[in-house]
Amino acid sequence: MYGMVNRAIEDLVCEKFGEEAWEQIKAMAGVDVDLFVRNETYPDDVTYRLVGAASRVLGVNAGVVLETFGEHWIVSTARDGYGELLDAAGKTLGEFLMNLPNFHSRIVLIFPKLNPPKFVCTEVEEESLRLHYHSHRPGLAPMVVGMMRGLGKMFETDVVTDMVADRAAGAEHDEFIVRWGSAARARTQHLAAEAAAA
Ligand code: HEM
Repeated sequence: MYGMVNRAIEDLVCEKFGEEAWEQIKAMAGVDVDLFVRNETYPDDVTYRLVGAASRVLGVNAGVVLETFGEHWIVSTARDGYGELLDAAGKTLGEFLMNLPNFHSRIVLIFPKLNPPKFVCTEVEEESLRLHYHSHRPGLAPMVVGMMRGLGKMFETDVVTDMVADRAAGAEHDEFIVRWGSAARARTQHLAAEAAAA
């Protein structure tokens, strides 16, 4: 993956836990790189090892690390470096998600060696849709959930993302029902009622 991904993990860890934690994570991951170059590619294994080590050093599971990273990617990395691209992709969350299938084709112009995920939207309603996530890489679904949360912040709307098909459990690809606005609030109420009844 491009170095900007590893750099974004570094930024997030340093911002929340300090540089010492980052050095500890790199050491535990066996990653001996002083500075990741944003537009150079590194083996995916480096990123996976950093996420695994972050999970152990910070005492949270890897899913939580990836979710937090996904949110940070949207509200910080993408916003700071590629704000115009984000703004051009939609004025509402619904519009943005409908444009997501084409989004990385613009990123490929900047990063030609990109190996991007593929997104497909189906069952599109006023405030919800089914998001299909096809990836060359395993295990990154929690990152998508975090990205949806980041997009909710960006568009200042409630978002609830339910995973409805899980590649890790044998599905062909990951699928999510993403709800926003009043549909997200209704979903939150429904889940709270279900939890209270259990
Ligand atoms: C301007 C903003 C963005 C930039 C610059 C960007 C760039 C990248 C880069 C460099 C990678 C690593 C892949 C590689 O190096 O081969 C990546 C992966 C990924 N991106 Fe984006 N991206 C952006 C926005 C988004 C958005 C809005 C979403 C979805 C909500 C998204 C979803 C993903 C996912 C899930 C991956 C994981 C890779 C995989 O599944 O193989 N990205 N992106």
